Amino acid sequence: MSNSNLANLAPISELYVSYDSAQKLKVEAGELPSWDLTARQICDLELLMNGGFNPLKGFLGQEDYESVVETMRLADGTLWPMPITLDVSEDFAKGLEIGQDIALRDQEGVILATLSITDRWTPNKAREAEKVFGADDLAHPAVNYLHNVAGPVYLGGAITGIQQPVHYDFRGRRDTPNELRAYFRKLGWRRIVAFQTRNPLHRAHQELTFRAAKEAQANLLIHPVVGMTKPGDVDHFTRVRCYEAVLDKYPQATTTMSLLNLAMRMAGPREAVWHGLIRRNHGCTHFIVGRDHAGPGKNSAGEDFYGPYDAQEMFKEYEPEIGLEMVPFKHMVYVQERAQYEPADEIEEGVTVLNISGTELRRRLSEGLEIPEWFSFPEVVTELRRTKPPRAQQGFTVFFTGLSGSGKSTIANALMVKLMEMGGRPVTLLDGDVVRKHLSSELGFSKEHRDINIRRIGYVASEITKNGGIALCAPIAPYTSTRRAVREMIEAYGAFCEVHVATPLEECEKRDRKGLYKLAREGKIKEFTGISDPYEAPESPELSVDTTGVDVDNCAHQVLLKLEQLGLISGSWGPNLN
Ligand code: PPS
Repeated sequence: MSNSNLANLAPISELYVSYDSAQKLKVEAGELPSWDLTARQICDLELLMNGGFNPLKGFLGQEDYESVVETMRLADGTLWPMPITLDVSEDFAKGLEIGQDIALRDQEGVILATLSITDRWTPNKAREAEKVFGADDLAHPAVNYLHNVAGPVYLGGAITGIQQPVHYDFRGRRDTPNELRAYFRKLGWRRIVAFQTRNPLHRAHQELTFRAAKEAQANLLIHPVVGMTKPGDVDHFTRVRCYEAVLDKYPQATTTMSLLNLAMRMAGPREAVWHGLIRRNHGCTHFIVGRDHAGPGKNSAGEDFYGPYDAQEMFKEYEPEIGLEMVPFKHMVYVQERAQYEPADEIEEGVTVLNISGTELRRRLSEGLEIPEWFSFPEVVTELRRTKPPRAQQGFTVFFTGLSGSGKSTIANALMVKLMEMGGRPVTLLDGDVVRKHLSSELGFSKEHRDINIRRIGYVASEITKNGGIALCAPIAPYTSTRRAVREMIEAYGAFCEVHVATPLEECEKRDRKGLYKLAREGKIKEFTGISDPYEAPESPELSVDTTGVDVDNCAHQVLLKLEQLGLISGSWGPNLN
């Protein structure tokens, strides 16, 4: 065992000033122009300040940025594959001068650092996407972020760190590079293999980490990312609870876990090199690179952005400069005959190989199906099920839309009673009239006001859905684009079932329950939907019902059947369907 791959655990340089200077600087920085950092920028700033991004001393200036984009190196030749940039709005950038200091604040306005501006420029984002992520394709989450979220102007310059971003969750599990280095020093760990992950740990991962530690004759650091991962991933709260459950299954003397507040970019090969440098800074000597490391999924043509082992190849190429050794792994699968996990490429023909893909796992979770013990630990499955119960126990929204008097409220009321009879989830009715009384009393019926009204309903429904309840909405909601926006808001948390109550205008007008159509015809009510204001009928609602000549009970049953078909209610809701 050579000395070269023993950890150098001397403290690494940070960008923080002393406690006393920080107090002074904080007061002075109150006078400076200030930038409210985005969630991703806060992650980057934390790792800049605590040495996780060593040797960077701040957000990249233009020369370093261009060099990193083109060559994966800083202008002085040092290996650094990822542009760490401070993107801002044009308006903010306009008022600034080179040489000026600005304050960087978190989302609550707390000043975390100051930045001395040396560079301000408008980047060529298409070029950045091509070179860093391999394609200017919005299907790549970081390319989408670059074009649709990041500001148009970059600021570069050195950072003076005032304080760490505050975390209220899992505080005891978060370590700076220097805290980890001190921990390793204290325990006498000199060979440490890091395992990067953004997913819950299942048995395959455990086997892979065991094997890696054995191969490298090293202690194991489970180093999950809790900053920002791929959109749609299991949230970090759930994952950390899963990791804590699995940690008990590792020998305590050889393994530890620490959370890394990194904002991933899903840049595959470049990302693997970056991850290696970050782990070196955290005092590790070895790094596990598996199949499709930091893979972003498929591109817009349905193909993988990177080959499954591109990351391993690139890591190997730069290994001496990264300063830690790669422990490469092939895909691990379960061999039934031997009841154990093995690398897929080492398995002879004729044995039974079992595997559950990520998609299949999500399907089983959402349908409440069995997840076998050979695949995961019961504790992990329990945590995952707690966060994502089967669809029939999740929150959802039924959104009725239709003309005034079409029957929306009546069906919604009947449906509410039926759902309450079934029990299990709280049901809230957001009826048009009721909402206008309690949430939107100041609004009229212009397009702008109707949109505000519908977005308010959407917001409340999304909160109800997120928290596992059933929201029944029954506004007119005459505009397609607003209904689409509400759908998107809600689908982030649960299902959205749009029901078009398609009772024709003549029938609604004939009923004229509230006498409003008459007044609208006489011009006494302006902007009346269907008479003097538009109604854009939904093109593809989940369900369309016409109440002409059909009783309310039957309409409500049609909705229940649709909900059952969508898997939102289970099949045992009573025999009296007709
Ligand atoms: S919207 O467009 O979705 O914001 O409308 P909504 O909040 O659902 O409307 C609620 C009720 O307001 C009454 N009303 C009108 N409707 C349409 N146009 C105009 N100008 C108007 N003025 C008052 C109408 O009775 C709506 O109730 P419903 O339950 O749909 O009959």
